Amino acid sequence: MSESRKVVGAVALYPSPDALVAGLEEARKRGFTRLDVVSPYPLHGIDHLLGKGPSKLGYVALVAGLLGVTLSKVAQWWMSEVDYPLNVGGKPLFSWPAFVPVTFELMVLFASIATVISMLAIFNRLPQYGSSLLRSTLMRDLTCDKFGLVVDARDPQFTSGGIRAALGGSAVLGIDLLHEVRPSRFFSEQIFSVRFLLLLVAVSFVSVTATHLVWKYAGALPPFDFMKAQEKLNPQRASSIFADGQGMRPLQAETVPRGQLPYRFADDPDGAAARMVNPVPLTAAALERGKDRYDTNCRHCHGLRGRGKGSLTSAFPKAPSLHGIKVRNWTDGRIYHVLTVGQNAMPAHARQVERDDRWRIIHYVRALQRSLNAPDTDLQ
Ligand code: HEC
Repeated sequence: MSESRKVVGAVALYPSPDALVAGLEEARKRGFTRLDVVSPYPLHGIDHLLGKGPSKLGYVALVAGLLGVTLSKVAQWWMSEVDYPLNVGGKPLFSWPAFVPVTFELMVLFASIATVISMLAIFNRLPQYGSSLLRSTLMRDLTCDKFGLVVDARDPQFTSGGIRAALGGSAVLGIDLLHEVRPSRFFSEQIFSVRFLLLLVAVSFVSVTATHLVWKYAGALPPFDFMKAQEKLNPQRASSIFADGQGMRPLQAETVPRGQLPYRFADDPDGAAARMVNPVPLTAAALERGKDRYDTNCRHCHGLRGRGKGSLTSAFPKAPSLHGIKVRNWTDGRIYHVLTVGQNAMPAHARQVERDDRWRIIHYVRALQRSLNAPDTDLQ
């Protein structure tokens, strides 16, 4: 190490913790204040002897945690009271107990991130190019079985010439001056050189290309292609499985696929009107479900109460009122026919509304009709 470098401190080597403590007390008596200790294992109570109070890191955590609590509460208040007020079960909009978990999480998040960052960056002054202590010739002993007392050069008592005399007690095994660590040539000169930057670009190009090729082609090579090499039928593709070369199988004559009931009156509205009855019993639950399905599938065209005032009316063919004499006099089967196969501009609903739900909707339509045109018998 060249002696021209700035001296940043000194380290004295002691054979035992007791000798170190004696040397430390001696140094403090002489008025040194910027002292530190290096030892292979923790020495309990040494921070007390060094005159160091507890770490200030706790205050950082406290302030950051309080900041997290405050910010999360302000954000929750702004979101739920101002920006997007949602009534949840009749609670006040800004119901703070409901948001305690989020507040807690943000408190922990802020406190932990601030603690880690400030521990590294502020309290330990990282990153650094290196530690002058680590470059000392005494470091090998210090990490093994010896104990060191370090004096910072910023100590008012410190003088490069006098420090050996100041620290040198009878127990001291050796004293070393610590020199400033300068960045290596790579950091100071080469990191922004064109050659190095080009090397970085080349490395990223090669790794991106390699990743791309592996993802794209390696999966198609054996043994990774086992998912592709399976016998299956793709829709609308020729098949090698069936003799006729077709993948999609035609319906067998005189059969009904599972889950599909044929509708017998597709071309026969009068037959549907005369022969079909509502198979779903009229219950409060059926009405409830019917209303739900009506609101989902019919309301935008026929309106909330079925009066033909849906929200789509300007863009779509106007849907008629369901309260006219015609529909009121229709049987349930006739309405079911319209829902199942459609009627002119009214689309068929067989695919999006299940059979029994179509019948439940009809119960609900009947209830709507009755609400506007109650028969006299209802008034008695
Ligand atoms: C896209 C809009 C639209 C939707 C959705 C819709 N309808 Fe219709 N509906 C119409 C139109 C338009 C007509 C008139 C058809 C015509 O001109 O014959 C109609 C006709 C009807 C009729 C016959 C009325 C008559 O006077 O001939 C009934 C009953 C009916 N709809 C019930 C329903 C029910 C119940 C639903 C929900 C499952 C529904 N509609 C969903 C647009 C719609």
